[in-house]
Amino acid sequence: MTHAILIDNIGELTTNDPAIGAGIGGRLSDAAVVIDGDRIAWVGPAAEAPAADERVDAVGRAVLPGWVDSHTHMVFAGDRTAEFEARMAGEGYAAGGINVTVNATRAASDAELGANLGRLVGEALRDGTTTMETKTGYGLTVEDEVRSARVAASQVDAVTFLGAHLVPAGSDPAEYLDLVTGPMLAAVAPLVSAVDVFCETGAFDGAATERILTAATAAGLATRVHGNQLGPGPGTQLAVAHGALSVDHLGFLDDADVEALAGSWANSARGTVATVLPACDLSTRMPLAPAKRLLEAGAVVAIASNCNPGTSYTSSMGFCVATAVLQMGLSIQEAVRAATLGGAVALGMHEDGWIDPRGEEQGRVGVIAPGARADVQLLDAPSATHLAYRPGMRLTHGVWKAGVRAV
Ligand code: NIG
Repeated sequence: MTHAILIDNIGELTTNDPAIGAGIGGRLSDAAVVIDGDRIAWVGPAAEAPAADERVDAVGRAVLPGWVDSHTHMVFAGDRTAEFEARMAGEGYAAGGINVTVNATRAASDAELGANLGRLVGEALRDGTTTMETKTGYGLTVEDEVRSARVAASQVDAVTFLGAHLVPAGSDPAEYLDLVTGPMLAAVAPLVSAVDVFCETGAFDGAATERILTAATAAGLATRVHGNQLGPGPGTQLAVAHGALSVDHLGFLDDADVEALAGSWANSARGTVATVLPACDLSTRMPLAPAKRLLEAGAVVAIASNCNPGTSYTSSMGFCVATAVLQMGLSIQEAVRAATLGGAVALGMHEDGWIDPRGEEQGRVGVIAPGARADVQLLDAPSATHLAYRPGMRLTHGVWKAGVRAV
C-alpha cells in the first residue's frame, strides 16, 4: 500500500510539460499535484484534484521539479581557500590546483570522503536538488578512482569516471593515457554510467580526448566532455562528433561550435547537451558561457553547479538559475527548464527506466507529470520568478525526493 500526498492550492506550478500547461515551463496556476509512493500520480487544476491520504496546503506558493544537478566533483578532501583568495587578488585559474585536491583525497579515508560527500549532498537536497551527478577525478590512481566511484555510488544518482581530469604530478602523459583507457577504465566501469574527459590545453588534447571517448564507448559507457573552459579548442566538436551526452563549461565557443551543438539535435532525438556552469564562470572570472545564444540557435541547454573545491564551491542551483537570468540573459522559464529537464537530458534520465547506481529502476526526472519520479520542490514564493527577483535568498520551503519529504 502506498501513501498518497496531495499538494494543493499551488499558486504557480512548473511542470516542464507543454502538454500539461502553458509555455516551455508547462505552467498551471491554481494547481494541485498528487504523489503516490515514489511517483507523480496526478497533475491538474486544484478544483479537480482527487482525495489523498495526506494534504499539504501550498498556500499559493510555487511548485517546480527538483533541481537536476548534472555536473559536480564532490568526492574530495581538503580545501582551496588560499587559491581562491589568490584568484580574487588577480591570479588566473590554472588547472594545476587539481593536484592539491588529489593529494588531500588520496590521504583521506573512505569514511572521510563519504562524510564530506554526504555533507554536500545534504546541503544540495535542502536547497532543492533531488537528482545529483558526481564525478571521480581527484584520485587518479586505479585504487583511488575505484574507491572514489564506490563512495559516490552509495550517495548520488549518477557517477561519472573522470580519470582523465589531469595527468597526475610525476606521471608520464603517454603511460597515464594507457592506464586511463586500459586498467583504470576496466576497474571503474562497473561502478559508473559515463566517462568524462577534461579536453583543454594543459590537460588532455584532441587526440587523447578521442582515444578516451572511444575507449569509453567500447566499454559500453556514455560519454561527456569538459570543453572550451579555459580557451578555444576542439572539445565541443569532439563531443558532438562522438555523440557525447553533454559538453560542459563552454566559455570559449566559436560560431561552428554553437552550430554543431544546435545541429546535433536537428536530425536526431539524441544530441549533445550544452551544459553551462554559471557559478564556475563567476568564481574563475572567466567569460560567461553563451547560454542565450545556444538556446536561440536550437541547442539543448543544461545548467549545473559544478560543485568542487577549486572552481565552484557551491551546490546552490538557485544561485546558478539567478545568475543565468541576471547575467546570461535567460528568461526564468528557460533557466528553470535548463536546471531541471535540461540536466535530466544531459544525464539520460528524462525517460522512465534509468537505473541508479544501486541498481534500482527509476522514473524520469526533470518534469512534474504522471509517472515521473516524485521529485518536487515547494518555494517560499508565489512564482519561480522570485528565484532571480530575490537573488541570494533561500526560498526552499519543501522538498520531496522520490516521494519522501526531505525538507
Ligand atoms: O570543472 N575543469 C576541470 N575540472 C573542474 C575543476 C577542478 C578543480 O580545479 O579542482 C571544473 O571546473
